[in-house]
Amino acid sequence: MDNRAIGYMDSGVGGLTAVKQALYQLPNEQVKYVGDTLRMPYGPRRTEEVAKFALQIGQYLNETDDGIKLLVIACNTATAAGLPLLQEHLPIPVVGVIQPGVESALDTTENNEVGVIATQGTVDSNAYYNGLMAGNPGIDVRQVATPDLVTLVESNLADEAEKQAVVTDQLAELIGTDIDTLILGCTHFPLLSNEIQQAMGDQVTLVNAGAEAINLVEQILDDNDARHGIYPMANHEDDLYFTTGDIEPFQKIAESWLEIPVTVKHLEADDNGLSLSKED
Ligand code: DGL
Repeated sequence: MDNRAIGYMDSGVGGLTAVKQALYQLPNEQVKYVGDTLRMPYGPRRTEEVAKFALQIGQYLNETDDGIKLLVIACNTATAAGLPLLQEHLPIPVVGVIQPGVESALDTTENNEVGVIATQGTVDSNAYYNGLMAGNPGIDVRQVATPDLVTLVESNLADEAEKQAVVTDQLAELIGTDIDTLILGCTHFPLLSNEIQQAMGDQVTLVNAGAEAINLVEQILDDNDARHGIYPMANHEDDLYFTTGDIEPFQKIAESWLEIPVTVKHLEADDNGLSLSKED
């Protein structure tokens, strides 16, 4: 039994798509989440820089208060850039989202035609391509960078027609191809899954890499006998969400996506790492 929280990190609200699955699948586990909104998007940044930001966040969560028992890098870009680095430097298990997404896509595809939409950083890393090829060298992989979808999610645009137009435009290269499986290789994208499904058609199955990672989290908790003990937290009132950006837009998206009230605090982020803002 380990009553510490599970930590999650992303460049913004994207990692909440992993948290949503965790709230459903591991309802007794406390959540501590950092969205690095100040420094997002991670997609166009250099690999070393993204890895450094991810490590700063992991260290903050691990070293503050009771720490965390496991970190989910709920960001594909940061997983591609920094998973081994964080695993080496943090004294807790660190889970990325790419391999769980790869495995789910390999299980899902029937015609071995798989699409991947992700940030430029994730596409350039070839992490999905290499993972899929390692699992099935006969697979055909089409990777497309769709960075405007990250901005679209963070802007929380209400106009449905405008949203659909941006999604359809970003997916143009994949629409009408033979893919039967599309990996949402950025944790922001499940927030647009209705629009993505609409653009791709019902013959394409969407893979939510962040949500898939929760199976691995569950397995590690069981292997380490580290599930939370009896804990009266059905409403998750002790969960903590941090953003390095503005609290209000983060809180609005988080509450609407997770469908629970959330407490959001502001973190200062600079070259030396993260710290809680004085007013909090
Ligand atoms: N949510 C992130 C991912 O899964 C990154 C989005 C960004 O900051 O570019 O890659």
